[in-house]
Amino acid sequence: MTIGQLIDTAVGPIALGMSPTPHRDAEELYALAAGIAITEIDRDAEPDDKTAEEFQRLTDSRISGVPMAYLTGVAPFAGLELRVGAGVFVPRRDFSDPVEPALEHVRATTAPLIVDLCAGAGAVALAVAHRRPDAEVHAVEIDEQAYGFAELNAADRVAAGDTAIHLHRGDVTAPDVLAELNGRVDVVVTNPPFVPEHAQLPPEFAVHQPRIAIYAGPDGLDVIRGAVDTAARLLRPGGALVLEHGHLHGETMPALFAADTRFTGVTLHPDRFGYPLYLLALRAG
Ligand SMILES: C[S@@+](CC[C@H](N)C(=O)[O-])C[C@H]1O[C@@H](n2cnc3c(N)ncnc32)[C@H](O)[C@@H]1O
Repeated sequence: MTIGQLIDTAVGPIALGMSPTPHRDAEELYALAAGIAITEIDRDAEPDDKTAEEFQRLTDSRISGVPMAYLTGVAPFAGLELRVGAGVFVPRRDFSDPVEPALEHVRATTAPLIVDLCAGAGAVALAVAHRRPDAEVHAVEIDEQAYGFAELNAADRVAAGDTAIHLHRGDVTAPDVLAELNGRVDVVVTNPPFVPEHAQLPPEFAVHQPRIAIYAGPDGLDVIRGAVDTAARLLRPGGALVLEHGHLHGETMPALFAADTRFTGVTLHPDRFGYPLYLLALRAG
């Protein structure tokens, strides 16, 4: 069997393990097993036994739902390579991008003040800081393990030349979180946990990633409600909230904001497949 055939035979089982990107996963796992870049894979050559064994081990893990990024140790996001591992939410490079609307809102603002609530590995905050070196970026994360990865990634980005972000270990629903920034923030961006507790998810999310990153009470809004209160307190009049809520809340979000006079100009934005992804709301006043 050639390397190409070995990779191809893994695609079907990986797809059955509910990966949305089985071809790419199979190639990445082979490259990882062989210790080479994907571009160095010679599909016509024969694999050595050690590489084939390691590829099988990695493939079995992937089929059981272990996130690709836990296997590779790296998550690409918005042009950055972030360190991740068990215990932290994997930034979703294919679906999740509240970075662009956040940047768009401050395109004409010098030295904007930007806050990322529920920072995880620091993906959104670090991507914003990378693109806007003049920005003052704060990021809040409650979980110890996630915060540890955010610290590592923040240090990596400073070493790479980006402006340092301000990391805070805390609860985004607390009434005093980042109180020193009250009424001054240009953009609050957040990708909080938003899945209702009873929802069925693939093992990649339900089993392998931390519950605190995924689930948020019976209706999935336990963290969103508090984060919205925090955003309303932090934002200056005209400042923007960019809130990722996923397709589960395409109807609950407009209802939540319709009754909230603190925000105006609420718009819903789909992902590239047309499913609800995030909303943008402006602080009234
Ligand atoms: C869906 S993950 C998103 C992480 C990151 N923003 C990203 O896009 O990769 C949600 C994160 O929120 C954190 N979190 C959950 N509840 C929180 C709370 N009350 N305060 C602060 N962070 C919280 C979780 O630990 C997790 O890291």
